[in-house]
Amino acid sequence: MDELVKAYYGQSLQSSADLKTSACCDANAVPAWLKPLLAKVHPEICNRYYGCGLVCPEHINGFKVLDLGSGAGRDAYLLAQLVGPSGEVVGVDITSEQLSISRNYIQYHSDLFGYSNVSFIEGRIENLADLGLQPQSFDLIVSNCVLNLSMDKSAVLEGVRNLLKNDGRFYFADIYADTPIPLELRNHPVLYGECLSGAFYTDEFIALSQKMGFHEPQLITQKPIIIEDNEIAAMLKGINFCSTTYQLHKNQLTL
Ligand SMILES: C[S@@+](CC[C@H](N)C(=O)[O-])C[C@H]1O[C@@H](n2cnc3c(N)ncnc32)[C@H](O)[C@@H]1O
Repeated sequence: MDELVKAYYGQSLQSSADLKTSACCDANAVPAWLKPLLAKVHPEICNRYYGCGLVCPEHINGFKVLDLGSGAGRDAYLLAQLVGPSGEVVGVDITSEQLSISRNYIQYHSDLFGYSNVSFIEGRIENLADLGLQPQSFDLIVSNCVLNLSMDKSAVLEGVRNLLKNDGRFYFADIYADTPIPLELRNHPVLYGECLSGAFYTDEFIALSQKMGFHEPQLITQKPIIIEDNEIAAMLKGINFCSTTYQLHKNQLTL
């Protein structure tokens, strides 16, 4: 599936307009307080935004933040402004084309912000321990519409737990289904690439997160996804999807 993901996000999609469903694009849902910061993010980065929710919590000045599946870097450059010059944002992505775009604008944003605190590294979010990041060093780990694309969600959660400080949190937006996705749909390239068929089954996610050493997920926001493409809607008939942002805190009593 890594190759499918790289081809989809590196070649098939050139901008948010190329998405076939609205599952992984929620560009309009930016609150008023964040709009001035978004206005400073380069338009090419914003045009390649494929997130499904908001991963910018307030009051994070000075935080060290990791963005899993940072894509073209829209959230990383928003977070860079929220953490300020004493904070730091590191993005990780598997797709070289996405990384190149995010890296191309590092200098542009440093000049605009007046400080440089963003970097991007190539890697798989299932192998976070191999990326040279210091264990227990992050105050906040975010991710926007990426875990659904991972075939090993336990490994991702394990890596997140190891990289978070003890009082750190994982704050992430993703796609959830209200029933398990049938096996025959999981490998469909468009359903998968569009972040639908790899979606978490909500009950399974809640159990898995606690098994992997987190407290019960805290629901931040949730909204239903309407699938307007008739062909895709027919294939997924009977399954309801929503985009949800959860926050996870480490449970010190486990693992
Ligand atoms: C739906 S896009 C979201 C991108 C970005 N978070 C945003 O909001 O624009 C999914 C991103 O996750 C990356 N990705 C998917 N699976 C990954 C994996 N296993 N490891 C690292 N990155 C991955 C893709 O390359 C792509 O850039």
